[in-house]
Amino acid sequence: MGSDATASVPAVSAVGVRKGFSNSRMPETEVLHGIDLTVARGEMVSIVGPSGSGKSTLLACLAGLEPASTGTVTLAGHDLGRLSPSRLTRLRRDRVGFVFQSYNLIPALTAGENVLLPARLRGQKVTTDDARRALAAVGLEGKETALPATLSGGQQQRVAVARALFAAPDVVFADEPTGALDGKSGTTVLGLLRAATDTGSAVVLVTHDLDAAALADRAVVLRDGVIHHELVRPTAGDLFDLVTAAA
Ligand SMILES: Nc1ncnc2c1ncn2[C@@H]1O[C@H](COP(=O)(O)OP(=O)(O)O)[C@@H](O)[C@H]1O
Ligand SMILES: [Mg+2]
Repeated sequence: MGSDATASVPAVSAVGVRKGFSNSRMPETEVLHGIDLTVARGEMVSIVGPSGSGKSTLLACLAGLEPASTGTVTLAGHDLGRLSPSRLTRLRRDRVGFVFQSYNLIPALTAGENVLLPARLRGQKVTTDDARRALAAVGLEGKETALPATLSGGQQQRVAVARALFAAPDVVFADEPTGALDGKSGTTVLGLLRAATDTGSAVVLVTHDLDAAALADRAVVLRDGVIHHELVRPTAGDLFDLVTAAA
C-alpha cells in the first residue's frame, strides 16, 4: 500500500465546499454553502435530508464527479481540484466504487462482464473465476453469464455492488442504492455495503431511508446545502426527529 493508505489520511474530506450550477438562462445558483466533512478509512457515513437539500450534489463533489466551485475535496490523499481531468478519471476508476439507484449496468454485458469491466479498464488481469467469486460474495452464485435484463432489481443492484467492491476501493459512494428495491433486497444490499467497511473501504451513503442511514457509524443531516446536524451512532428515531425538524 502507498503512504496515502495510512490510517491518518482520511478516505475523503471536504473543507469549505461550495457548489453552484449555472446555465445560459440563469446566473449561478449555489446549492452547497460551505460543507466540511471528513470520512475515515473503514467508516460508513450516511447523508440524509429533505429532497433537494443537496445530498446528491454533495456526493458528486466528494466523488470527483462534479468539481466544487470553491473549497477543497481530498480523496485518498489527493486534492481533486489539483488533478488533471485524466488523473481524476484514473483516481475514480482505481480507488472509488459507485452504486446508484438505477444500477447502471451495461445491458449488453453479462453480470460477470459488468463486474469485471472497471478492472479491465484499469488494465488489471482478471478472469471469469474472479467474476464468479465476486458474484458469489453478494449471493449470486451461478449468475456470471446472466444478462442484467434477466435479473430482478435486487439481483441487478447486487451485481452493481459486486462491481463497486471488486477492487477493495478506498471509498464506495452510494446514492439511494435501495431506492428502487423492495425491503428485503434493500436490506441485503445495505448489509453488503456495511460489510465493505470491514475490509477498510469507507462508505458514503445518501439515502432518505432513515433505517438505512442508521446503519452508518455517523450520519449528517443536510438542509438547504448546509450540514445542520451530525450524529454519531445514529438511530432511526433520532434521525427522524432531526430530519423532520429540518424539513
Ligand atoms: N446539474 C444541475 N444543474 C442545476 N441545478 C442542479 C443540478 N443538480 C442539482 N441541482 C439543484 O440542486 C439542488 C439540490 O439537488 P440534489 O443534490 O439532487 O438534492 P437531493 O439529492 O438532496 O435531492 C436542487 O435544487 C437541484 O435542482
Ligand atoms: Mg438525490
